[in-house]
Order: sequence, then C-alpha cells, then structure tokens
Amino acid sequence: MALSLSFGPFSVHFMVLVLSILNTSIHASDPPLTLDYYSSTCPTVFDIVRKETECAVLSDPRSAALLVRLHFHDCFVQGCDGSVLLDDTVTLKGEKKASPNRHSLKGFDIIDGIKNMVESECPGVVSCADILTIAARDAVILVGGPYWDVPVGRKDSITAGYALAETNIPTANEGLVPIIAKFLYQGLSVTDMVALAGAHTIGVARCENFRDRIYGDFRATSGLNPISASYLSSLRSICPPIHGGENNITAMDNVTPNLFDNSFYHTLLKGEGLLNSDQEMYSSVLGIQTRELVKKYAADPLAFFQQFSDSMVKMGNITNLESFANGEVRKNCRFVNT
Ligand code: HEM
Ligand SMILES: *[C@@H]1O[C@H](CO)[C@@H](O)[C@H](O)[C@H]1NC(C)=O
Ligand SMILES: *[C@@H]1O[C@H](CO)[C@@H](O)[C@H](O)[C@H]1NC(C)=O
Repeated sequence: MALSLSFGPFSVHFMVLVLSILNTSIHASDPPLTLDYYSSTCPTVFDIVRKETECAVLSDPRSAALLVRLHFHDCFVQGCDGSVLLDDTVTLKGEKKASPNRHSLKGFDIIDGIKNMVESECPGVVSCADILTIAARDAVILVGGPYWDVPVGRKDSITAGYALAETNIPTANEGLVPIIAKFLYQGLSVTDMVALAGAHTIGVARCENFRDRIYGDFRATSGLNPISASYLSSLRSICPPIHGGENNITAMDNVTPNLFDNSFYHTLLKGEGLLNSDQEMYSSVLGIQTRELVKKYAADPLAFFQQFSDSMVKMGNITNLESFANGEVRKNCRFVNT
C-alpha cells in the first residue's frame, strides 16, 4: 500500500522533470502582463468585453461555460495566445479539429462579436487572447462566480498547435496521475487543478465523454441510494452503452447547472461525478491530496472562489516566448494577419 501510494507522486515529478527538459519555453509568469496595459490605448476595452459577454450569457447561460473552456484550451496549447481561435487554412492546421476540441469546443462566434466591437473602438490594439481571457472572467461573474483582476498584454500567435492540443489537454478517461502531470507541466499545481476543475459547476458534457463512467464505476461510487440510482438511469437513457447519442448532452453539475457555485464538489462527495476524471479526484486511491481539496471546496465556498480566482490568473499567465516575441494583434481572431 505505502509503496503504491508513493509511486504516483514520484512518477509525476519524474515525468514533469523530463517534460521540462524537453521544453523550457513555458513558464507561468514570464510575460510582463499588467492590469493597465490598455489604459491609454483602449481604456474602454474592459467595458466593451463585459457588455458583449453579458449579452451572450443573458441570451444563453451555456455561453459562460463555452468561454471559460475556450480560454482553458487556449492556455494549455502554446500558452494563452489565441491559437485555439484560428481556423484551418491551406497553410495552417488549426486546433479546432484536434480530438479534445472536435464537435466540442464552441463559442467562437461570441469572441468574433466581442472582437468586432473592440476593433470598432480601438482598431488593431487588443489581442484576441486578451479578449478571451477577459470574457472568461466576465462569464464567470455573470453566472454567479467570483471576480478577479485580469492582467493583460498577451499577443496572438501566428501558429497553432494541433499536435499539442492532442497531447496537452486532459481528457475524461485519462487517469488522475497523467492529468495531474499535464497541469504540473503547465506550471500549475494539484491545488490549481482541483480548483480549476470546479469550472465543471457550469456547462455540459457529451455522451461519448461520460459513457465509460455511467456504464463503469458510477454505481459503485454513488452507492445504492435510490436518488443516485434514478439519476444514473436517466443518464443511461440519454447515452446508450455502445452506439448512438454520442452528442447527447447533460450538465456536469445536475443540481445547479447554470450557477457558478461549489455544488460540483458536492456531486463528487455523493459519488455522482459525471466524468471519470472528476470523480477520480475524490475516489481514486491515488488521490489523497485531491480528495482533501474536494472536501475543502465542498465545505467552504469562499475558499473555492478565492482559489479559483488565483488559479485562473495563474492559468492566464501561461505564455510561450515564441508567441510573445513573434506574435501580433490579429484583426480577425480566426486568421493570422496578412
Ligand atoms: C482537470 C481536467 C479536465 C478534464 C479531463 C476536462 C474534461 C472535460 C470534458 C470531457 C468536457 C465535456 C466536453 C464534451 O463532452 O464536449 C468538459 C467540459 C467543460 N470543461 Fe473541462 N476538463 C478539465 C478541466 C477543465 C478546466 C481547468 C476548465 C476551466 C477552468 C474546464 C472547463 C470546462 C467547461 C466550462 C466545460 C463545459 C463546456 C460546455 O458546456 O460546452 N475544464 N471538460
Ligand atoms: C438522446 O437523448 C434523447 C433525450 O434527450 C433520447 O430521447 C435519445 O434516445 C438519445 N439518443 C440515444 C441514441 O439514446
Ligand atoms: C501573473 O502575472 C502577473 C504579471 O506578469 C503577475 O503580477 C502575477 O503575480 C502572476 N500571478 C500568478 C498567480 O502567477
């Protein structure tokens, strides 16, 4: 027992060591991001983004989830540089069709709308990467989550990372230890991971991402109580065991699906997490530290909000020097400037 418990963390450190030797260009606080970066060149940018994000979230609360996830998938692939927003062209292979994103990432049209408004006010000044970062913050507030200040000054990449999107972004049926390794690789801690995964308090998942869970250990983790059993059968009715319904969706927090609160952690305490990756933070035998954090955020919503805010800033700080040195402010978030 003791041996297997210490093996997990050791192998994570080892993997991260190897990974950081292979690629030293990612650091969580390299860029000189500041709160007042646009204060003379585009003083109204925060107001414009807030107003446009508000329209999007009021017309469909799911928009909040879309924006937060877009920002996450942007930052985990060559840093927060708007690379996720690029469309495929003859010369550029975008990230949108990479397996974690395909049929899944949405909300690009919301960013286009905000960008248009920002461009009409301050042409050529504000990067798409910054717009996405600010919009993700505003989205969280609009569905009841915490406020934090957003450092800005990011550049938009002139490249995308299809292969990095396939490797860096954690997936639902990956084990806890490899997922932790993916966060450590980005300079984020286990605490950051458990807090950031709390974003699953809003938004939905598709059948193909929770099928293995609901036909796997869901019954075992949620016990025999009749409420869990009926929740499980409703999940199974929208997601058949073998084929069909791949794109059928359901909320990850089935109690308050459109509210940014800590009830996601309560679903994990009940053993009713929708994704394997989420439930493992509480139920895995390797998840000693993650389990304590899940309990802490379930018990203390303020602690969750504070850590989530800090961790979002930290995630937003991920940058690579390449995009920073050779990057630009795109005119259209979908295409590199010509
Ligand atoms: C810890 C590792 C994580 C894994 C394995 C993971 C995996 C997933 C999966 C499989 C989905 C459903 C996608 C679909 O079925 O189309 C999803 C949705 C979502 N994820 Fe994560 N995620 C993780 C962390 C995060 C983080 C750090 C954030 C943001 C801070 C985030 C925000 C979201 C949001 C908001 C949604 C809902 C999107 C929607 O409604 O379309 N996730 N995630
Ligand atoms: C998809 O979900 C709907 C209910 O939301 C259900 O009626 C339908 O049967 C599901 N599709 C499959 C293939 O199970
Ligand atoms: C994020 O970056 C800003 C500016 O570069 C820095 O002041 C701040 O301490 C960083 N925050 C975290 C949590 O890394």
